[in-house]
Amino acid sequence: MNILQINASARQGANSTRVADAIAARLQSVNPGAHVTVRDLSRNPHPILDEAALGALFTPADQRTPQQAARVALDDALIAEVQAADAIVLGVPMYNLGVPVQLKSWIDAIARAGVTFRYTEKGPEGLLGGKKVYVGLARGGRYRDTSSDTQVPYLKTVLGFLGIADVSFFYAEGLNMGPEAAKQGFAEAEADIAAAFA
Ligand SMILES: Cc1cc2nc3c(=O)[nH]c(=O)nc-3n(C[C@H](O)[C@H](O)[C@H](O)COP(=O)(O)O)c2cc1C
Repeated sequence: MNILQINASARQGANSTRVADAIAARLQSVNPGAHVTVRDLSRNPHPILDEAALGALFTPADQRTPQQAARVALDDALIAEVQAADAIVLGVPMYNLGVPVQLKSWIDAIARAGVTFRYTEKGPEGLLGGKKVYVGLARGGRYRDTSSDTQVPYLKTVLGFLGIADVSFFYAEGLNMGPEAAKQGFAEAEADIAAAFA
């Protein structure tokens, strides 16, 4: 089994990484011998999808400049990691009511027409089916099951678009609401993770 862990916080020692680590550890304990690949987007931020990147992606491979080929290769590496993974663990903090730009850049890299999704006469079809995704969320406040939670609907929709329907969410919330609330927030996430892998 191949597990891919994406740490999407902007910082090292992140709360969302703590939750993602707990998920990956449980996954490993129930799948002995599983191989874990960790991509830390704080250490190695993926470049944003800017005009140069779009130009590179839309230039046929045999006509790309060396710079354009190098830019596309960065995205290719992320796509290969995802394709090789049986399970994907995302560590996701809430920044300004949304997902961090680090995660958005990762999504922009892995969503590629003709490779991870395609359009058919019946509409879009995701090509990453059969994978399981676990999302460890870290939030300063509490948003679970409220209309202010833009992260969970967005992640369900975009992963579904890529063919991944099996997505579980684990919430560490209230982390900036005082030490007791933070302790409780982590404890809730850890209990939910333990229950999911029991
Ligand atoms: C730039 C920034 C924006 C934030 N925005 C929110 C927010 O909109 N809602 C919230 O509940 N917490 C917010 N927080 C708090 C983080 O979600 C919280 O500290 C979380 O634990 C950070 O996770 P990390 O350590 O994995 O980066 C924000 C923190 C930062 C640094």
